[in-house]
Amino acid sequence: MAESATQEIAAGYTTEGAALELGCVLVDGAVDPAARVRIPFATLNRHGLVAGATGTGKTKTLQGIAEQLSTAGVPVLLADVKGDLSGMARPGEPNAKIEERAKDTGDDWAPTAFPVEFLSLGGGSGAIPIRATLTQFGPILLSKVLDLNETQESTLGLIFHWADQQALPLLDTKDLRAVIQHLTSDEGKADLKGIGGVSPATAGVILRALVNLEAQGGDDFFGEPELDPADLLRVVDGKGVVTLVELADQAANPRLFSTFLMWLLAELYEDLPEAGDLDKPKLVFFFDEAHLLFSTRRRRSWSASSRR
Ligand SMILES: Nc1ncnc2c1ncn2[C@@H]1O[C@H](COP(=O)(O)OP(=O)(O)O)[C@@H](O)[C@H]1O
Ligand SMILES: [Mg+2]
Repeated sequence: MAESATQEIAAGYTTEGAALELGCVLVDGAVDPAARVRIPFATLNRHGLVAGATGTGKTKTLQGIAEQLSTAGVPVLLADVKGDLSGMARPGEPNAKIEERAKDTGDDWAPTAFPVEFLSLGGGSGAIPIRATLTQFGPILLSKVLDLNETQESTLGLIFHWADQQALPLLDTKDLRAVIQHLTSDEGKADLKGIGGVSPATAGVILRALVNLEAQGGDDFFGEPELDPADLLRVVDGKGVVTLVELADQAANPRLFSTFLMWLLAELYEDLPEAGDLDKPKLVFFFDEAHLLFSTRRRRSWSASSRR
């Protein structure tokens, strides 16, 4: 009975070509090393979901997948909210549990270090700071960070558009603050009128939200030099670079963190050409603790084309 169930499950995972190994089928506490569970590299351009209760091995699963991708020369980006994955930079310490699993699954586990790059929003704790200019980020994503309503969001869009027409660069929050302060000042009245549909009161609300963001340190993230998405696509000594994006210093502002990740995805979507089906992906994104990053409560459309 157990035998046939094992074979039935394993049959669902027979694949051709290079594949990453998730582990083996376990039925009634018995591991069958012959019944391998694998995912072909060629199908990793699909979306995947790892679900389970706390402590059931989701993060370890992500780590295992990320390590095998790196070994296969595929760069990966991991949003590491809890800092669980920083150990990938150093070889692991063997222990009885790991050795037992390696034996059960017929795995040739060896402690391995991976080329890890630490990024963090606005910097901190020795990580490389990541930044985007406000113009690059765009009014729609900034509205999400500032928690603006629809009216305020469209007002912000008009203000960005006006600054663009005046050839005023919006690199950081100071630049935007100066523009809104001008538009809501006596000298700026005529300009504000010229934009049309922008009330001074709404502009004032946006200004306050912006000042709040600055007070929380959110301004560190906006400015130059801007992150070059090509940096995420590097391969070192044949191993794909593992980019760990840390939240630690931004724990108070998960909205900024999740919006940043949306921005990064949109940038990559815009920069990278459609490649069709490949033998293996060019970059794989992981969002651990995704429920902290993405709220399902408020839905908005996030297409790359609509963000400017
Ligand atoms: N396949 C496995 N076999 C044995 N122990 C595991 C396995 N996967 C994870 N663990 C252990 O279980 C614990 C929780 O794993 P973790 O990946 O952090 O869970 P989650 O992210 O789902 O909360 C860790 O101590 C980890 O070493
Ligand atoms: Mg976890």
